[in-house]
This record gives sequence, structure tokens and C-alpha cells, in this order.
Amino acid sequence: MITLSTISDLRQQIGLWRSSGERIALVPTMGNLHAGHLTLVRRAREQADRVIVTIFVNPMQFGAGEDFDSYPRTMEQDTAALSAEGADLLFAPSVTQVYGNNREQHTQVEVPGISDILCGASRPGHFVGVATVVCKLFNMVQPDLALFGNKDFQQLMVIRLMVKDLCLPIEIIGVPTVREDDGLALSSRNGYLTAEERQQAPELRRIMLETASAIQSGERDYAKLEKKATQELEKAGFSPDYYSIRSAVDLSDPGDEACDLVVLAAAYLGKARLIDNIQAHSPSG
Ligand code: PAJ
Repeated sequence: MITLSTISDLRQQIGLWRSSGERIALVPTMGNLHAGHLTLVRRAREQADRVIVTIFVNPMQFGAGEDFDSYPRTMEQDTAALSAEGADLLFAPSVTQVYGNNREQHTQVEVPGISDILCGASRPGHFVGVATVVCKLFNMVQPDLALFGNKDFQQLMVIRLMVKDLCLPIEIIGVPTVREDDGLALSSRNGYLTAEERQQAPELRRIMLETASAIQSGERDYAKLEKKATQELEKAGFSPDYYSIRSAVDLSDPGDEACDLVVLAAAYLGKARLIDNIQAHSPSG
């Protein structure tokens, strides 16, 4: 596996692959790789001749007081894991390489509306940071396809809309969430959990499955379901940020007609902010 850190070296290598007609997949990450990330790499290998993984802890998507400085950086293990998984190229640029020296004046990419709800409401500017860096990575690599996890459902939707609105010729592939045996979604932030919190963490998934099952049985009082789940989360020791049943098509509040729904939640457990989602089909839609 080749490891590069400058855009010019990256472009040179990609140019060689392109000139021999190879199909290129991109997997953007912030590193501290786990089996969820590595599943994206595996899916990418199945669909492309070359797989490029990026590791970049993107300051633009972290708010003031969030965990940018303490975000786990484990480059050595990540490099070994990617190499073992058969990635062709790791691109790990510096902040200056990506943003230059004047980040405050940097062009931003905003997908309006959807960026301001749910995680975007709790983390103002987060999705502008995500869309901007992903757009830049797309321009650096110009991949044929790019893979993202369904775990970050809203992020995936922001990226799909950005690609559509900006007419980027890139196929976006969503990959199912990889979980621990007890149901907890793998996340780099699970490392912030204490041993005791780690025991409690799967309650989030359990409660969400209960909501999904109620929806699938025909319950349509979504406000009641959200309230019940929020109370259960609090009882289990979480500080819920949001717990919301939305249209899986556009994350709008579901009207009576909506049948493709998604339950989305974010909750703090100690220092860790856990997010998860589950899709549910309402029979009454
Ligand atoms: P990061 O949290 O490192 O995640 C990188 C990719 O891995 C994302 O597409 C995410 O949805 C996916 N992923 C994370 N946990 C997963 C799991 N348990 N199962 C399946 N996929 C999982 O998301 C980001 O980084 C950043 O916002 C990024 C898109 C790289 C932009 O900076």
C-alpha cells in the first residue's frame, strides 16, 4: 500500500491508474479504524480496481469545545489494518495541505435545510464541515464511486444531496452498519466509554428496536413513541440529545402517508455521544 500526504503526489499516482483505465473507489475516514471502516474498504475492493482510503481528522466539522484535539489518532495501527485489508493507497494529508493557511476565509459547501436538523441542530456547522471536506476529497481524487456508512444516516443524505446538486459524477454507496455482538454500532467514539458505560451502551439499540417494532405493528403516534423512548434512555443513564422518527426519504417529519421511516437518535453516555438509526416500514403509510 502506498501512503501519501500531498495532493500533488496523490494526483500523480491517480493519473497513472486512470491512464490504464482503472476504476477508482474512495473511502473517506477520520482514522482510528474499526471493523465498520474496514467493511467499507472490503465493499470498495469488490467494486473497483483501486481503493483509496483517506484519513483526515477534519477540523471544520468539529465545533468549539468538541473533541477535535482528543479525537483518537492511531496512524500506525490504521496503516497496518488498511494494508492487510488490501487498500491500494492511504492519503493522510495535514490540515494545511487541505485548507492552506487561512481556514477562516475558506470556501464552504452547504447543503441547506437538512444540515440544520437533528445532528446539525446540536452541532451547528458540522455538516458544512463534512460537505466541504468531502467535496474537496472528491475533487482531489475524482473517484468513480465513494462509500459511506449508513450508521451516519444524515451524513450520507447530506453527501447524496451535495453530489446531486453539484452534478458530481460519483456513485455514492451506503454500507449497512457494522455492530458489536450486543448490537452497539461500532464507532471510534466508543473508546470514550468506561467499562460500566460500555455495558449500558447497547440499551440505545434495544430501545430503538422497540420503537421500530411498534412502528411496524402499525403504531402511528410517533410523538408518543419518541417520548417513551426518551424516558427509557434517561432511565438507562443516557442524556438524550434527540430521538426522532422521520421520513427515510428526506428526514422530514412523517405525515400520515409516509411509510418509509427511520428512527434516529443521539445520546450522551458519559463523555461519549453515541448515534444510531434504524429504518422501519409503517404498514399504514
Ligand atoms: P468516520 O467517523 O471516521 O467514518 C468514516 C466512514 O465510516 C463513514 O462513512 C461512516 O459512516 C463509516 N462508519 C463508521 N462507523 C461505522 C459502522 N459501525 N458501520 C459501518 N460504517 C461505519 O464519518 C466520518 O468519519 C467523517 O465525517 C468523514 C465522512 C470522513 C468526513 O470527514
